Amino acid sequence: MMKATHLVFIAIVLFFCNLLKAQTVNPLQFPKDKFTLETKKVRTTKGEVEVIYRAYMHIPYVANPVDKDYQSLNVFVPVKIDGKDTDASNAPILFEIAMGGYMSVNNAESIEAKQVKLSYRADLALVAGFVVVSTGCRGRDNRTANGKYYGKAPAVIVDLKAAVRYIRFNKGVLPGNVDWIVSVGCSAGGAVSALLGTSGNSPLYESYLNKIGAANASDNIFASACYSPITDLEHADMAYEWMYGQTPNRSGLVDQKLSKQLAKAYAEYQQSLNLKGRGDFGMVTAQNYQDYLIRYFLSPSASRFLKDSPDSVRNDYLKKNIWITWKDNKASFTFKDFVSHVGRMKGLPAFDDFNKKSPENILFGNDSVDARHFTNFSLRHLKSNKRSEIDNDIKNFTNLMNALYFVKQDNKGCAQYWWLRNGTSDNHTSQTVMINLATRLQNINKDVNAWLFWDGVHCADYDPEGFIEWIKNITGYRIQINTIEK
Ligand code: DHB
Repeated sequence: MMKATHLVFIAIVLFFCNLLKAQTVNPLQFPKDKFTLETKKVRTTKGEVEVIYRAYMHIPYVANPVDKDYQSLNVFVPVKIDGKDTDASNAPILFEIAMGGYMSVNNAESIEAKQVKLSYRADLALVAGFVVVSTGCRGRDNRTANGKYYGKAPAVIVDLKAAVRYIRFNKGVLPGNVDWIVSVGCSAGGAVSALLGTSGNSPLYESYLNKIGAANASDNIFASACYSPITDLEHADMAYEWMYGQTPNRSGLVDQKLSKQLAKAYAEYQQSLNLKGRGDFGMVTAQNYQDYLIRYFLSPSASRFLKDSPDSVRNDYLKKNIWITWKDNKASFTFKDFVSHVGRMKGLPAFDDFNKKSPENILFGNDSVDARHFTNFSLRHLKSNKRSEIDNDIKNFTNLMNALYFVKQDNKGCAQYWWLRNGTSDNHTSQTVMINLATRLQNINKDVNAWLFWDGVHCADYDPEGFIEWIKNITGYRIQINTIEK
């Protein structure tokens, strides 16, 4: 028989255990009841649609944040679309990357603004019944009060991976289907979306993720959408000279000797990628890349634009652009004329700036140095020493920031579905950057939907509804709403 004193003792122990349990609620648990109901009207090509949705604001996604203002996210869950109830518990999850220029995204500001601001793509996703997650993240500008930088590479991708892990960790609590996470971003955000897609579950980020207390879950994603992705940074100077070397920018032609050196290095790099072009094109090299771009991307883009334009618009356009020949519904032109039409924007080198002023120089700074060089070319030029080598840590960081690095080695956690878009007039990086990514992904049997918007500039999106349709197609997810679905 147990003595009464024993029973009292056990009761006291149980009481304290429960108390402890209550106090140690997992900080990575999604607060499913902490939301406000919001309403918005979204303009679509099929008319205006009213969406009522739950907004969960400013939720930390790591257990040991460096800065909670940045390492937090918002979740939006549609509950009523056009007056009809909807259940998003099994819907695709659109993972929105709001980051541009490798700058930080302050998630705390989204609640201070008192108004829930979403991108048009996110609005359309809600109309389609999808869950939207919008994340904050650290970036190259983050600095403590005593001057220490804390968002240099690879902080941004580490944070986004931690956010993906948070979503998956909360499977069944956070609404949406964790097997249908679709990332989307533009420019630097497009590059990081690509990186999130190619580097899924890579062990190379593990120590960084552990340090910030990321959830114990996988970080691969289902699909990646990348608009104007500024990736493959350590080869971007070379690629830029290959494309724009002989085209003047506002200050005239860049140093032709240096430009030719970079273009030559590009040819070697392109060869090393060993990319197989579409159809019977064979290997894509620096020598035949102009033809490749024209045949599979530029001419089809111009042709579709002209075909879809009313006669008067088309005739006017062709009169103003006599470098284009329009015959049998097909636009033809030379690559040289096309590049003159676009024009060069950046100086030389376009990315690893000799003065260390580019966003990328600042991305590759460290906790005490704001900006650093990240290519041997720029470093050697400045030091007038052919043997100078960038620091080993930077080599590692350029890899950790490069989507191409992971597809080149066929990383197992790479997303299966890809939506790649750029404008033909985007001169922020060479057109070869996105097309190399598309080609490599195709070569490893990924499902790639790549297109260039004719005359589109940086981050152009002429088909936001097409993107939503694509997500419906790759997931098979559809909700039945009268005014939206036919
Ligand atoms: C962005 C643009 C750039 O030209 C660049 O080098 C890096 C980032 C951007 O818009 O995000």
